[in-house]
Amino acid sequence: MQLKSLTQIKNLKSKTVLVRVDYNVALKHGKVLEPERIERSFPTINYLLKKKARVILISHLGSPGGKFDQKLSLKPVAVYLDSVAKKPVHFVDDCIGERVKQKIAKLKAGQILLLENLRFYPGEEKNDAKFARQLAELGDFFVNEAFSVCHRAHASVSAITKFLSAYAGFNLIDEVENLDKLLHGFKKPAVAIIGGVKISTKIKVIENFLKKYNYVLIGGALANNFLAAQKINIGQSVYEKEFVGLAKKLLKKSRGKLILPLDMRICNNLKGRGKILIKKISELNKIKSKKFYIVDIGLRTELYFARHFKQAKTLVWNGPMGMFEIPEFSHGSDYIAQQFALISKGTSFGVTGGGETITLLDKLEIKTWPDFVSTAGGAMLEFLEGKVLPGIKPLIK
Ligand code: 3PG
Repeated sequence: MQLKSLTQIKNLKSKTVLVRVDYNVALKHGKVLEPERIERSFPTINYLLKKKARVILISHLGSPGGKFDQKLSLKPVAVYLDSVAKKPVHFVDDCIGERVKQKIAKLKAGQILLLENLRFYPGEEKNDAKFARQLAELGDFFVNEAFSVCHRAHASVSAITKFLSAYAGFNLIDEVENLDKLLHGFKKPAVAIIGGVKISTKIKVIENFLKKYNYVLIGGALANNFLAAQKINIGQSVYEKEFVGLAKKLLKKSRGKLILPLDMRICNNLKGRGKILIKKISELNKIKSKKFYIVDIGLRTELYFARHFKQAKTLVWNGPMGMFEIPEFSHGSDYIAQQFALISKGTSFGVTGGGETITLLDKLEIKTWPDFVSTAGGAMLEFLEGKVLPGIKPLIK
């Protein structure tokens, strides 16, 4: 997939460039907790500054529902940016209209301005043409550097491209190229490891990889749906009832390719204060009570999964193997993260992504080991379903 790169813009000197970034980052007491997404936008910003453009950054933060919400102001992000950027970063508490235009008019070539949260206007999430036109009036060119929001047909991602020539930023290109390599021209054996909680958000990715890859390993609460489909006692563990039928069909269709856990760690206390038992799947039905939770994959499963992906030439991992936020329940996720990272560090091509997966790699200090770590959650999943994302479509050459 070839995208129009921002390097194709001929003369950037004194031009105003609207850069859609995804600064939807975790904040605590006004401090940025996870700067990864912000840092990934620096190469594009620095390139534009070097070319003497005026850089206008536009982003959303959270879901304010189309109205102003002080708690979701991007001001703290501007303060953070200002502290780490080589140039001063200006901020304006709106994203369209006269005041914003005046602020931009005062901006000198080679300077940065961050606008207020786009989702304070209902037009943003409605992909409203009028709102998009008001945004487009602010600049000469549009650069999309927000891969992680490209699955949303929102005004600053989609409709805006009808009013301004649109280009892709460096990180967006990186994201698309690396994720695309997982779907096209990849080397086999190819293995996907999918964990996490909600099967509703991952079922299409699982189906796509079942068509393409040698194995799809399922961990985390996702696996509970497949166990429930086989009438296995999962106690009070999370699953999505309406997906059990589909899980049953997939199991039937994909025997041999769909790899489920052999054993699970169970506990009757979700805070990690109870005794943790490892039970083979066949043993779960012998438990008479339903007063337990599946909290992690078991030891046999760790080794069994690792055996499947050790030979892989292409490897993708998304989602933890259990409730990893509780240290007592994080053994399986830690083990899979380490093994995945180790194999990716070698000659295999390994890609991962999603907030929780990044948290795990960060904790284990192995974030630089995989070939690529996507900063996207939903956008990565929808891309891997094989969809052309609404934010990417206008950028294709
Ligand atoms: C994300 O964090 O995945 C993106 O910023 C998209 O956010 P959203 O799910 O609120 O649209």
